[in-house]
Amino acid sequence: MSELLYLTTPIYYINGDPHLGHAYTTVLADTVARAARLEGRKVIFSTGTDEHGLKTVQNARAAGMTETEYANLFSHRFQEAWRVLGVQADVFLRTTQENHLRTVQKALSQLWEDGQIYRGTYEGWYCQPDERFFSPADARGGTCPLCSRTLEWVSEPDYFFRMSSHQAWLIEWIERHPDFIQPETRRNEVLSFLREPLADLCISRPRSRLEWGIRLPFDGEFTTYIWVEALLHYLTVLGWGGEPSRMAWWPQTSHLLGKDILTTHAVYWPTILHALGLEPPHSLFAHGWWVTSGRKMGKSLGNAVQPLELAQRYTPDGLRYFLLREMAAGMDAEFSEERVLARSQAELANIYGNLLQRLTAMLERYCARRVPEPAGGGMEEALLRERFEYLSGDFLRNCSEMRVHAALAGVMDALGEVNQYLERCAPWKEAAAGNRAAVATALYTASEALRIASGLLQSALPFTAPEALRRIGAKAVTQRWELEWGGLQPGSAVESGEPLYPRPVARE
Ligand code: MSP
Repeated sequence: MSELLYLTTPIYYINGDPHLGHAYTTVLADTVARAARLEGRKVIFSTGTDEHGLKTVQNARAAGMTETEYANLFSHRFQEAWRVLGVQADVFLRTTQENHLRTVQKALSQLWEDGQIYRGTYEGWYCQPDERFFSPADARGGTCPLCSRTLEWVSEPDYFFRMSSHQAWLIEWIERHPDFIQPETRRNEVLSFLREPLADLCISRPRSRLEWGIRLPFDGEFTTYIWVEALLHYLTVLGWGGEPSRMAWWPQTSHLLGKDILTTHAVYWPTILHALGLEPPHSLFAHGWWVTSGRKMGKSLGNAVQPLELAQRYTPDGLRYFLLREMAAGMDAEFSEERVLARSQAELANIYGNLLQRLTAMLERYCARRVPEPAGGGMEEALLRERFEYLSGDFLRNCSEMRVHAALAGVMDALGEVNQYLERCAPWKEAAAGNRAAVATALYTASEALRIASGLLQSALPFTAPEALRRIGAKAVTQRWELEWGGLQPGSAVESGEPLYPRPVARE
């Protein structure tokens, strides 16, 4: 595994507030990035906002603002949401930034000079809200396959990227790199899409139809198609062609996205990169959708859920835990508030939070608020120790494979075993019998297990897991070796406190 990791989310459209789907991808990426940092990898984690396009013009007008004012307002709402949810991105990229303009113009100039772009005529079915053209087969009588709205027939001069000339190369690349498109079902989907001849890609819009965007460097009467511009932002983040360049991170790159934008990432993007003389990213991972009553959650269907409201009610970590634990990597998941409550209470509060409360209460009571010095320990302790030694490796591997749901399930199972261990050792009985060594061993062992679990859970729970570490008297865990058994120092001060995951008050 490379020491470097460039992990990205899509850059989101600013046609509304961030919703739960955006929050999911971003929190998942944040967790994977944190776990990778813990493993010692050098991570660049980027997210941002996709601000050009007709939608922004229309929305700004409707709100009585300029495009810039509107873009500033909504881009900041995304940034604010990520701050509240504890997302620690290294780069928040806005496509209206000057350096992005330079990247796009440099890439297009190079493609133009290399004969990868030609002028032609575009005719096709166009969906204005989605800003996508569809083939007659996909247009199904003039209805958008994505949003079901009416498509318009457009015929205009335009510029095209010779995407078709990279088709054979792309198929071979996908076949030779089984990890390139994940999960495997998505890889098969792309390969079957590529069985049909690939058309060239229209990369321009006449300025008369779209002013709010980046001009083609070789013809100022045209604006760059926003998907081409948006994909190129992945290079802007690394300062491609400029200074200081972080291109050492390319192609140690993992793009995280929803399955709605698989084709743009798995077909348009690698062919553009190939034409530019760059390798495709190491991998793309397309996750599933949050659905309500079986329908994709989103702004256009009007069924979007506001993550900030949920974070207020269930705490930011409560929401993060739900998102990460509920959706199995690559599958769809049904959203309901009952599920949020169930996950945050049944697992976070009742297993993790409860263990912390029990332990700190006993450490206060039987060990004078100090981490005790354990005696040698027996079979039970050796087994638990072994369990937690394996846990870290499993957790970090699952996270690096985007299987955060499994990583969290593993920690919860292991914590369940700590609870059972405590039941069997019954330190309260040993204390009553005056057996101080047995009390010390049991409480040290359980606390050390909780320390390791918390060190791992920090990636998912950046607010509460560090607090749990502090309460049991453990130092901050920032590197993998600090997860080794025995890190908890006897004599450290322990502190109890309010439950970390209180039950939300019932709604009126
Ligand atoms: N701007 C483009 C992406 C350009 S990236 C070079 C775009 N933006 S978007 O605002 O529509 O965001 C799409 C992404 O948001 C999805 O790929 C996914 O990451 C996330 N989600 C939006 N709705 C979602 C669900 N209902 N469920 C899960 N994630 C979804 O496309």
